[in-house]
Amino acid sequence: MSQEEALAHRRSVREFGPGSLTLPELSRLMWAVQGITVPGHRTAPSAGATYPLEVYLAVGNVENLSDGVYRYLPDRHRLETVSASDIRVRLAYAAINQEWVSSAPVVVVIAAMSSRTTVGYGKRGERYVHMEAGHAAQNLLLQATSLGLGATPVGAFKDAEVSRLLHLPAGETPLYLIPVGRLPRP
Ligand SMILES: Cc1cc2nc3c(=O)[nH]c(=O)nc-3n(C[C@H](O)[C@H](O)[C@H](O)COP(=O)(O)O)c2cc1C
Repeated sequence: MSQEEALAHRRSVREFGPGSLTLPELSRLMWAVQGITVPGHRTAPSAGATYPLEVYLAVGNVENLSDGVYRYLPDRHRLETVSASDIRVRLAYAAINQEWVSSAPVVVVIAAMSSRTTVGYGKRGERYVHMEAGHAAQNLLLQATSLGLGATPVGAFKDAEVSRLLHLPAGETPLYLIPVGRLPRP
């Protein structure tokens, strides 16, 4: 799919078809959101190359991957286990009862350690972090479209509840939830 086709076909999808995601699909989604392109650079731009974003996965239906919470490690293109619980239903509840969130095989969470950017840019750095999350999220949405998958960016959720479910370290804040799944059958 060309870049133009992905842009033209991207649509928010809140109803998913049956079927799990595969590890190669997950790998390509993670690479799109924060993957390393050349040493010191990622698929998304970063103010001052400070890279404040952290990407988590709430997995509930991925082939050959146990349900649980994972953190993406861009430098090694690997996942690190955070917990072994399927938190999707609780995430949907934290997202102001958007029940469809729990039906996605995977919910990608973009979080940020804003201090990495604000230490050099002060208060304006907060704005930069939010801009960067938008870049990373759009990469993910376009990659999902290219892979024939559906996804929707979700901004309505209770920060403290999502932080608790993901075991986010102090200073890290969740910015976006992005449920990803198969397109419904036509
Ligand atoms: C910052 C932001 C927050 C959003 N939050 C939600 C949300 O909480 N729940 C939801 O279902 N959609 C959410 N959306 C998706 C929008 O509703 C959707 O993009 C819009 O209706 C346009 O449709 P389209 O994405 O199919 O073009 C959000 C989009 C953005 C950019």
